[in-house]
Amino acid sequence: SNTEKTVDERLLAVCEILEKHVDYYNWVGFYFKNGDKNELKLGPYVGAPTDHTIIPFGKGICGQVAVSNENFVVPDVAAQDNYIACSITVKAEIVVPLFVNGENVGQIDIDSNTPNPFTDEDERFLEFVCAEVAKIIE
Ligand code: SME
Repeated sequence: SNTEKTVDERLLAVCEILEKHVDYYNWVGFYFKNGDKNELKLGPYVGAPTDHTIIPFGKGICGQVAVSNENFVVPDVAAQDNYIACSITVKAEIVVPLFVNGENVGQIDIDSNTPNPFTDEDERFLEFVCAEVAKIIE
């Protein structure tokens, strides 16, 4: 039988490693552009289930990154307008776009229950993770 992992299994493993090894990464997931629709669709994730499995472009932190192509670090989610709350325990969020052949195809989204935990080091690290993930999905 074919014992190779599927792409979704590999992406889930990435989420699991990040959530397990970084104490302030409390929800870790991927969103991907949904075909030719102007929306994101939830992919593999670890953490509390979210109602927000579809996010229109421009809405929330994730939807803004879908159109800006830039990292979005939110030190305090309570201070953000255009934020989509998934859990009342979340204090901060980071979203880093995922590029395949220069195209923004999705993003990694991390929620933290710790206020203001994300540094430049997280951004550089998650850019590296996204570049590695791009090799898995391209
Ligand atoms: N907070 C996100 C929505 C996704 S949840 O964090 C899983 C946003 O504002 O886009």
